[in-house]
Amino acid sequence: MKFNIRLNKTENSKLSEVDFDNIPFGKVFSDHMFVAEYKDGEWKDMRIEPFGYFEVHPACLALHYGQAIFEGMKASADAEGNAYFLRPEKHIERLNNSARRLCMPEFPEEAFLQAVHGLVDLDKEWIPKAKGSALYIRPYMFADGEFLGVRPSDSYKFIIFTGPVGPYYPKPVSLFAETKYIRAAEGGIGEAKASGNYSASLLPAREAIEKGYDQILWLDAKEFRYIQEVGTMNIFFVIDGKVITPVAGGTILKGITRDTVIKLLRSKGYEVEERPVTIDEVAEAHKNGTLQECFGTGTAAVVAHVHLIAYNGEDMTLPAMETRKIGKFVKDTIDGLRDGTVEDTEGWIVPVKALETA
Ligand code: COI
Repeated sequence: MKFNIRLNKTENSKLSEVDFDNIPFGKVFSDHMFVAEYKDGEWKDMRIEPFGYFEVHPACLALHYGQAIFEGMKASADAEGNAYFLRPEKHIERLNNSARRLCMPEFPEEAFLQAVHGLVDLDKEWIPKAKGSALYIRPYMFADGEFLGVRPSDSYKFIIFTGPVGPYYPKPVSLFAETKYIRAAEGGIGEAKASGNYSASLLPAREAIEKGYDQILWLDAKEFRYIQEVGTMNIFFVIDGKVITPVAGGTILKGITRDTVIKLLRSKGYEVEERPVTIDEVAEAHKNGTLQECFGTGTAAVVAHVHLIAYNGEDMTLPAMETRKIGKFVKDTIDGLRDGTVEDTEGWIVPVKALETA
């Protein structure tokens, strides 16, 4: 089914103002955005329009009770300038899972794909060419109903905007295993890509940064033993040749890059265990010399090597970067899939198409 998406192009492109040799993460925004409104039980008024401010009512429900969810995806280009997505359908699938958990309306998959293709095609000149760079795409939905009682809103906005980005973590990161604060408990909203999950990480992350670390490593909410994820990405360990990642059992984000990495490794014959993994197991492996690698995965971070984990007053320094075969393989493969230098044998790469309307 084709949806009617109106197009209103900007007359003031900002493209010529961008310094593509020096792009920080998340500060540069492309010319257009997609907007849709949910009212009277349906999504309507879908349009691509110039990127810019919009008004919200002071009683906007998302600002008070947190009905807000988002996605992070990327588009990249090959040497000829053809633009691609990696597994775009996975993002609308996850957005709709998040929507169900937060009592928000689902967004039609077809409309999402039409919108994201049309938007990225329109702004494809904004895709940066440098290695490790991409056009970051931020779809999000929030309750814009005007009401002070605690109940699901009856109106919502769904927006997609984009912006060129460089690497989220240009250098390997250090993690502080958090034993005071928690991210999510069983039965909570930990699996949803809900804004509130990220606000919960801000104070602990700030305290970790004040102690000299880059990010927090979340442990479980009951015992502070089982590793969950990092504040900004999922986590993998390589212990004695085996790749281990915490099971996505409801309290952690079901990362799409996490899934891509698991599939890539299994297709190359690596053993990957998705299972509960304790911080003590990691500390023990560090002690006996079998902790070979640790890396985080996420759309923004792609694959970020971890060089140190702090736990229980001890700084565990991990093996040197030159020895990181598995993390390097997955990072190079994902970068290569994105820039067309690695063959896509899984059907993950989707060429960007121009806007189709009804
Ligand atoms: C992403 O990886 O795209 C996210 O949404 C996480 C955020 C830290 C940028």
